[in-house]
Amino acid sequence: MTSHHLVIITGANRGFGASAAHSYIAHSSANAVSFVLVGRTQQGLDNVLSKLQEAGSQAGVTVKGRVIANVDLADVASLDNNLARIQAAASELRKESVEYKNAITKSVLINNAGSLGDLSKTAKEFTWQEARSYFDFNVVSLVGLCSAFLKDTLAVFPKEQHPDHKTVVVSISSLLAVQAFSNWGLYAAGKAARDRLLGVIALEEKDNNVKTLNYAPGPLDNEMQADVRRTLGDKEQLKIYDGMHKSGSLVKMDDSSRKLVLLLKDDTFTSGGHVDFYDE
Ligand SMILES: NC(=O)c1ccc[n+]([C@@H]2O[C@H](COP(=O)([O-])OP(=O)(O)OC[C@H]3O[C@@H](n4cnc5c(N)ncnc54)[C@H](OP(=O)(O)O)[C@@H]3O)[C@@H](O)[C@H]2O)c1
Repeated sequence: MTSHHLVIITGANRGFGASAAHSYIAHSSANAVSFVLVGRTQQGLDNVLSKLQEAGSQAGVTVKGRVIANVDLADVASLDNNLARIQAAASELRKESVEYKNAITKSVLINNAGSLGDLSKTAKEFTWQEARSYFDFNVVSLVGLCSAFLKDTLAVFPKEQHPDHKTVVVSISSLLAVQAFSNWGLYAAGKAARDRLLGVIALEEKDNNVKTLNYAPGPLDNEMQADVRRTLGDKEQLKIYDGMHKSGSLVKMDDSSRKLVLLLKDDTFTSGGHVDFYDE
């Protein structure tokens, strides 16, 4: 059976987002993938899309895509406009899929973009202004992205007419969503809020072929981890992260994104749950 997945990824220009897009082509078993790549930099997103197309042609997977650049998810004033641009791109790709008689069988939103907050501070040092700005990006924009995506997708693929179409919402989460560590106040609160929202969506939309997944990718060998080592105020944790970096035991992004895509492919995960890279 042919399968054509529409995959929207935020923060797709680099890091785990770009890695997840590549793993999707390699490991999802979809015959065709239409990407909506969302981010701030046009050039970074264009590069990722052209590499995905190259990888697709080598793997025998039809890859199409749209790049939605200049999307600053911390800027709530432009959020409605950006959500409309993202949904318009998804709509174009769906129309093309009908023209080419290769209908979308699964729609996936991967909420990947995220920031650390100021890890040098403990909670008593945060101002409400920095908290508000942090949650605007990491929580408020996610609520907007999820609701726009679900409204749109469920309107186009109502279960009665499209019983085989599946919808999946992913949040790239963290161990901090389920376990507290010093100096991670905003990050931990943001990830926990995202996890719980996806838990609620899982219940609300369970009869609409919708599943949600909170995936914690592990401590990745990438720029965000380098920022952690540069800024984390807690000396004990710093020793652990430094040690992991020096011993080469940080998780490779492609290993972790492969695990995420295999979870989505196998589709046996508990909707609304939290799965960590290190889980069996
Ligand atoms: N790295 C880790 O060890 C680790 C561990 C657990 C969870 N995670 C989670 O994994 C996800 C991906 O992070 P990463 O490791 O790939 O980090 P990263 O390399 O720092 O990438 C972060 C991504 O978010 C985007 N972004 C940042 N601020 C933005 C804004 N205001 N508006 C729109 N996009 C923005 C970045 O775009 P620009 O290029 O434009 O900055 C980039 O694409 C995050 O949710 C993170 O919390 C990471």
